[in-house]
Amino acid sequence: MKFDLPEKATEPILQIDAREVEALLQGPAMQLPKWPGAQVKLKDGRLLYIREAKIEEAPKMMEYVKRLMDVDHDFYDIVGARVYSEILGWYRHRLKDPYTFVGLIDGQWVGFANGRVMSEDINISLHTMALARGGRIGAVMYYAKAYYAFEMIKNTEWWATYESYNGWMRWGLGMAQPSYPWPDVQHELGGARVYYVTKKYWDQLIKNYVREMAGADLDFNVSDSVRKANEELIVPEEILV
Ligand SMILES: CC(C)(COP(=O)(O)OP(=O)(O)OC[C@H]1O[C@@H](n2cnc3c(N)ncnc32)[C@H](O)[C@@H]1OP(=O)(O)O)[C@@H](O)C(=O)NCCC(=O)NCCS
Repeated sequence: MKFDLPEKATEPILQIDAREVEALLQGPAMQLPKWPGAQVKLKDGRLLYIREAKIEEAPKMMEYVKRLMDVDHDFYDIVGARVYSEILGWYRHRLKDPYTFVGLIDGQWVGFANGRVMSEDINISLHTMALARGGRIGAVMYYAKAYYAFEMIKNTEWWATYESYNGWMRWGLGMAQPSYPWPDVQHELGGARVYYVTKKYWDQLIKNYVREMAGADLDFNVSDSVRKANEELIVPEEILV
């Protein structure tokens, strides 16, 4: 749009530094606490280590997730497509205050969980994926990000929604999550129902969830050797789901 100027301008063409535009598009980031890394012994005895993904790992994560878009069972296709865009949003700084967790067993990438901090109160759960099945890896990954929200960021509410039967069964039903009236309140993932957890409910009930699912709690006492074994994220060659 161009309007006639109501006053003479000595510089009628303004030059803008794109970095100034970037500051507007991104907005200021919140100071999120660092997820220190945690391990959980799975039921089958394997040690799942959950750490933050490194931004330089995003391209190889996206390359793998792209392949999941072709998996036409258990909603891996739509979750894959959305996770791809969320990793890209994190990589290109187009997502407000995201956090991205990877679950690793001896460096092998087996689980994914992410979300974003909408406000000081509300944490939006985005997606969780098990990249290998049968180990309850997805269940543990989801718990870890909710733990991060309530215990570390100190959010007071958790908002989730479900695209798949497995997701709904694991957490909607598995954590007996109530939902807000719909369509009055909608989740940003496709406008579906918002299932929520309050801090009070988290303290009352949900803290036991991972112990019930995996038989062990999150363990933050991680040895250097476990950290070292999972320093490099190894993307599986095959799709294993
Ligand atoms: C939802 C999800 C993260 C849950 O992961 P999970 O907790 O590791 O559990 P799985 O989906 O692997 O398994 C669910 C159940 O079916 C069984 N199962 C399903 N597929 C299996 C397979 N290929 N091999 C062995 N067991 C399998 C599991 O043993 C498990 O049963 P259990 O309760 O007795 O442990 C995972 O199903 C997933 O990534 N789905 C696609 C993406 C998705 O839907 N994300 C959530 C969006 S709402």
